Amino acid sequence: MWELVEVFRDEAMLAGFAQIIPPMFEDIAVFTRLGESTDVVTKELYDLEDNGGRRLALRPEFTASVCRAYVQERPLIPWKAWYAGPAFRQERPQRGRYRQFDQVGAEVIGSHDPDIDTEVIALAASFYRRIGLNQVVLLINTLGDQADRPRYLEALRGHFSADLDSLSEQSRHTLEANPLRVLDSKRPADADLVAAAPLLIDYVSDDAASAFQRVQGGLRALEIPFTIAPRLVRGLDYYTRTAFEFASSALDAAQNAVGGGGRYDGLVADLGGPEEPGVGFALGVDRTLLACDSEGVFDPQPASPQVWVVAATAGTEALQLTAELRRAGLSVNRSFDGKSMKAQMKAANRSAAPVAVIVGDQEVADDTVSLRLMQGDGNQAVVARREMVSKVKELLQL
Ligand code: HAM
Repeated sequence: MWELVEVFRDEAMLAGFAQIIPPMFEDIAVFTRLGESTDVVTKELYDLEDNGGRRLALRPEFTASVCRAYVQERPLIPWKAWYAGPAFRQERPQRGRYRQFDQVGAEVIGSHDPDIDTEVIALAASFYRRIGLNQVVLLINTLGDQADRPRYLEALRGHFSADLDSLSEQSRHTLEANPLRVLDSKRPADADLVAAAPLLIDYVSDDAASAFQRVQGGLRALEIPFTIAPRLVRGLDYYTRTAFEFASSALDAAQNAVGGGGRYDGLVADLGGPEEPGVGFALGVDRTLLACDSEGVFDPQPASPQVWVVAATAGTEALQLTAELRRAGLSVNRSFDGKSMKAQMKAANRSAAPVAVIVGDQEVADDTVSLRLMQGDGNQAVVARREMVSKVKELLQL
C-alpha cells in the first residue's frame, strides 16, 4: 500500500499540491452536508457520541474535511492539497467494498478554471499510468450548476412518474428523496427507464456546457482517453459541473470504480465559508491494489534480501553485522532461535540472497568475516571486518 501512496505523493508534489492530514473523526455536521439523501450519509456514516455528548462521525471521505479546514485556516487560493489515509463507511463488506478502506486524493479550492478540472484528472491518470495499470478507463460527465438542477429534476420526476409501476420499489422511494439518484440504480428492473431518462447535458447552462467542452479539449490535448457517460451522477450530493470516475475492467462490475471525483462549487459555502469553488478526486487504494493483482502489476514473489547473515557464535555478532549492513542501505535478514550452521545456510539458500556473511568463533578472534557468493561456484573469502560493507557491495556490483 505504501508504495502506491509514495507514487501518489510524488505525482501530487510535482503538480504543486501540499499534504494535509485531516482528523479521522469530526463533528457530524461536517459530513451530513454531503447530502441528506445519499447512502453515505443516511446509512453508512459511523455516528458516535463522546463523553461530552458531542456527536462525531468517522470520516466517510476527505473532501468535506478539507473544505472545513479551508474555511478555518483560509490559505491562499488556489489552494492545492493532497491526502492519504483510511475512511469508514458502514457497508456490507464484500470484495472491493470494506467498512475501513484507504483513499489517496487531491483537492483544489478557489478556482473556476476548467483547466484545473483537467489538471486533477491528469494527476489521477498519471498515477494509474505510473503504477502500471492499463485497464482503467475514464468516464466523464457534467452535472451543471445548482441553478440548472430544478429544471432537470422536474424532467426526471416527470419521466419516472409517468411509468411508476415499472420502477423498483427502492427507486420509487429514492425518486421522492432525490430523482438524480435513481440514475445510479443498478437494479435490472430499472434499467430500461433509466436508459430512456432525459439527459442532464440537455439542461445545463451555456456556461457549464462550454466549461465541459474546455475540459474535454484539455484531456484531448494531454492525450488522456475518456468516454462521456451522460448518466454518471456519483454517490455524493455536492457535485456540480465536471464529474468523473475511473473504472477498472479488470474488476467485477459492481466494484469496478477505482476512483472518482469532480467539482463541488457549493460545498465550501455550505460549510460556512466564502463562495469558493472546488474540484478534486479520491482514489480507492484497496480497489487499486485489487486491480493491480488482476492485471499482474506486482511481482508475486516478495523481494529477496541482498544479504543473509549466518552466525555460529553465542555473542551479539549477528545483531551487530545485520545492523551495520542495513545502515549501509542493504536489505539484510538472518535466522533466529539458535539454529545450527547447517540450518542457517539452508535458510540463506532458500532466501535467494546473493551473498551470505558468515561469522564463527575463528572470525571473531581474527576480527574478520567470511563472504560467500550463494550462486555460481559458492566462492568463499575471508575479509577484514572493517571492509565487510565495501566488499559486500563489490560482490553485489553496487
Ligand atoms: P467516492 O466515489 O465515494 O468519492 O470514493 C472514491 C473511491 O474510494 C471509490 O472510487 C472507491 O475506489 C473507493 N471506495 C469508496 N467506498 C469504498 C469502500 N467501502 N470500500 C473500498 N473502497 C471504497 C469520494 O470519496 C469523494 N470524496 C471523491 C472526491 C474528492 N470528489 C471530489 N473530491
